[in-house]
Amino acid sequence: MDAKKAAGEKAAEYISDGMRIGLGTGSTVYWTIVRLGELVKEGLRIEAVPTSVQTEKLAREAGIPLLPLARLQAPLDLTVDGADEVSPKDELIKGGGGALLREKLIASFSDRFIVVVDHSKCVSELGRFPLPVEVVPFGWEMTSKQLRQMGCEPVLRMRDGAPFVTDNGNYVIDCRFGSIPNPGELTVELNKLPGVVENGLFVNMADLIVVGHPNGTVRTKSGT
Ligand code: MLT
Repeated sequence: MDAKKAAGEKAAEYISDGMRIGLGTGSTVYWTIVRLGELVKEGLRIEAVPTSVQTEKLAREAGIPLLPLARLQAPLDLTVDGADEVSPKDELIKGGGGALLREKLIASFSDRFIVVVDHSKCVSELGRFPLPVEVVPFGWEMTSKQLRQMGCEPVLRMRDGAPFVTDNGNYVIDCRFGSIPNPGELTVELNKLPGVVENGLFVNMADLIVVGHPNGTVRTKSGT
C-alpha cells in the first residue's frame, strides 16, 4: 500500500461519532478525507472545518458535512494535516501546498493536532525543504530582501507564470535555509517582519505523528 494512503487512512481511526474536526490540505490528508467520506456514508456523524478551498471542495465531494468557522464556539476536537518535514522533536515545516496560514489557525483552534506523513518526510533536522513564508503582496520585494538577511535563499512562488496567490490573497516566498537548528527562535524572528503574515514552522503543536511506510505499515509517535 502507498505510504501516504496508509498514514492518511490510519488517522481516520482517531475520529469518532459527534466530533468536530479540522481537515488539512495535501496529498496525505487527502486519504483521510476519502476514508472519512466512506465512514460518513456508513453513518459516522462529524462536522469539519476545511483549511483550504481545495480541501473544502474535496470534503464536499466526499459528502462530509462542513462547519462554518463563524459557528465554532469551542475548540475543535482534533485536526488532521500533513507536513513537508518532521524533525525528531516533532517540529514541522508546512506550506508546500500553500495553505499554511489557515492550517496553523485551524490547528491552533483544536484540542489535538494529528500529523500524517510518509516516512520520507521525517528528517534529522528541518530546513532542506524550503520554508514557505506567507507575505502580503505590498512590498514583497523588500520583505524578500529582509528574509534573505535572515540567512536564506528566498524565491517567490510562481504558478502559470504569475505569483502564486494563497486563499487569503497573499504571496508565498519559499526560503531555502539549508538547515534550521532552532525552529522556535526562527519562527518568532520571521513573524516580527511586518510583511510576513505567517510562516510554515509549526513548533510545539503536533500531538501525534502518524508515519506511513511503503510496505503499508504505520508507526505513531506522540508529539509535544
Ligand atoms: C502542507 O503542509 O503544505 C501539506 O499539507 C503537506 C502535504 O502535502 O501533505
